[in-house]
Amino acid sequence: MKKRYSVILTLVMLFLLTTVAYALDLQGEVVYQIMVDRFYDGNTGNNNPAKAPGLYDSSKSNWKLYWGGDLDGITQKMTYLKNMGVTVLWITPVHDNIDVAAYYNGTANAGYHGYWARDFKKIDEHFGTWTDFDEMITAAHYNGIKVLIDFAPNHTSPVDITDPNFAERGALYYNGTLWDDAYYDSHGYWHHNGGITNWDDRYETQYKNLADLADLAQEHATIDSYMKEAASDMVNHGVDGFRIDAIKHMTMGWQLSLTDHIFRAKDVYMTGEWYLGGYSDPLYDDNVKFANNTGIAPLDFYLNKAIRDVFGYNANFSVLDDAVIKTGQDYKWKNDLPVFIDNHDMARFLTINNNNTRLHQALAFVLTCRGIPLVYYGTEQYLHDDTDGGGDPWNRPMMNSWDQTTTAYRLIKDLSDLRKSNPALKYGDMYQRWMNSNVYIFERKFYDNVVLVAINKSSNRSITGLYTALPQGTYSDELGGLLNGLAISVSSNGAVTNFTLPANSVSVWSYKATASTPHIGNIGPVLGRAGNKVTLAGEGFGSSGNVYFGATRAAINSWSANEIKLTVPAVSSGVVPVSVVTSAGTSNTIDYEVLSAKQIPVVFTVRNASTSWGQNIYLTGSVQELGNWSTDTDQIWGPFLCPNYPEWYTVASVPAGQTIQFKFLKIDSNGNVVWEGGNNHTYTVPTSGTGNITVDWQN
Ligand code: NOJ
Ligand code: NOJ
Ligand code: CA
Repeated sequence: MKKRYSVILTLVMLFLLTTVAYALDLQGEVVYQIMVDRFYDGNTGNNNPAKAPGLYDSSKSNWKLYWGGDLDGITQKMTYLKNMGVTVLWITPVHDNIDVAAYYNGTANAGYHGYWARDFKKIDEHFGTWTDFDEMITAAHYNGIKVLIDFAPNHTSPVDITDPNFAERGALYYNGTLWDDAYYDSHGYWHHNGGITNWDDRYETQYKNLADLADLAQEHATIDSYMKEAASDMVNHGVDGFRIDAIKHMTMGWQLSLTDHIFRAKDVYMTGEWYLGGYSDPLYDDNVKFANNTGIAPLDFYLNKAIRDVFGYNANFSVLDDAVIKTGQDYKWKNDLPVFIDNHDMARFLTINNNNTRLHQALAFVLTCRGIPLVYYGTEQYLHDDTDGGGDPWNRPMMNSWDQTTTAYRLIKDLSDLRKSNPALKYGDMYQRWMNSNVYIFERKFYDNVVLVAINKSSNRSITGLYTALPQGTYSDELGGLLNGLAISVSSNGAVTNFTLPANSVSVWSYKATASTPHIGNIGPVLGRAGNKVTLAGEGFGSSGNVYFGATRAAINSWSANEIKLTVPAVSSGVVPVSVVTSAGTSNTIDYEVLSAKQIPVVFTVRNASTSWGQNIYLTGSVQELGNWSTDTDQIWGPFLCPNYPEWYTVASVPAGQTIQFKFLKIDSNGNVVWEGGNNHTYTVPTSGTGNITVDWQN
């Protein structure tokens, strides 16, 4: 049965794949996060595989063992996902994880979550095979669903430096061949600096172990090429993007070289996990700089905190509004950031507030907010287990119901449809129109497209003095009263006729305009090289026209009213304004950063750089990747890491084969700059692999 199904599916798909192009633009999408082991057991034959026996618990009583979910299970549930309006899946890692248990306090722990890789060339035997992976991707694409694969190149598996018999010593395999392990490490594939104790320290977070996970040295040429090859494998198997694990724990330089490598092959979407500890996380600025310069749009942990505080813990709506304003100012690509209520690393919403009405309100917010909505599996079935506060692993119950009529399921569907059809929800700005502690009325607007959303998390409230950009008219609730919403009427000056917002309700009002000239909403990826593929999304593109990078015309690969696929023309490196010109007019511009060449990660070390309190070391230089001699800390590399004062280093990403000039700077927190003396340093970047350059600070 299974075999026949896959053969037919494969044939149908092969045909469709040649005719259907999948849009890169994710801003109109709804992402659904699946923890593979906990979703659906589609093939009981792989539950207790001979390669890694004894890690499966059919009774589901040890929450840290495998429970049977697999790739076939996802394939079989594709219709359920599609009917919910899910258009993108984020699948937790599927690479081969350790084959034995790691014992903590006498309890067996398996890599059921996928974050304990041993072999980045293989699919874990509990989840299936590469063929099962391909079938899952094919089935997803057939249903109009894209797939983001979780990729965890930061580390292998747990290592205990006092115990060579613990688990697999963090061993790394290449397609079944053992390369080395992190206990003996004769090649220098791992860092050996112990576990992170200060999570706010940028050296520790990048060069020490995340808990006890063996920390890979991505700057080692062998690891660099292995991880890039593993990423390419995923691209070749048809993924539409990546969720990179633990981006906070790897260098920005290596990760820019990774995105450059991936974008060279395909115009995929990239997100990543940078956990923020709260509204004043000391590494928040590093996170923003990373987001604005690597082509990776981090999961929006800042907004996540505000969503949990306001809907889960009953904070005032001003907390949410403040977070929307702050992130809107800081993140250049704010509409690319995934927005979420919960995930596999925090208690589920219903654990922190067991109130379905509030969950619906939070969901409605996420689905209409700026950014890309992301829903954790089971939310639509009110799945939660509150044991011990409901954190890891209790936030990972087995999916146990597939009801397509729950309010949450229908809500996701309704707002997914609206997101697809109204560009205001994809590309629009977001601003508050009316607010008190329990009512939040906000608007999304992209040119003349408008969506107005009103959330009331308390009792009936009369609303006076509300203005909107919606044109004159009467607007019914797009949710059809699903969350007790109502209709409003708007007069010619945008004043909304006074009304009473029902208790615990959400209303969504929408106006879709017809664009008479081209409007660009999104570009993806946001950086790359001349010759790369890029997707522009927006409205009013008509059926033909030209795209310009600055004044240079780009080759067009496909053109539709809402989407243009093109090839980046040969223009000089730098941030270039991109515009669309049609017979109807010229669009707005959107930025694209053209890199100088293929990117190589290089460790820049400067010795004897003494600093006074508050000063940090930065690197500037002669190419775009080094900021073209800028001293603006947002444009150049740093702050450097300094485990061995007065020696400092950073990993920067620089153009392959080029001879670059550079200098180090001392910059304090007030922005005072001290330039290094002497002549510029010179370095010829290798044409492949990774690089290293060490110099003395010149007075
Ligand atoms: C973050 C993941 O989301 C988490 O579940 C995992 O344990 C760590 N990274 C380490 O991979
Ligand atoms: C130079 C900046 O220092 C760095 O932050 C950035 O990533 C590169 N330019 C490439 O954009
Ligand atoms: Ca199974």
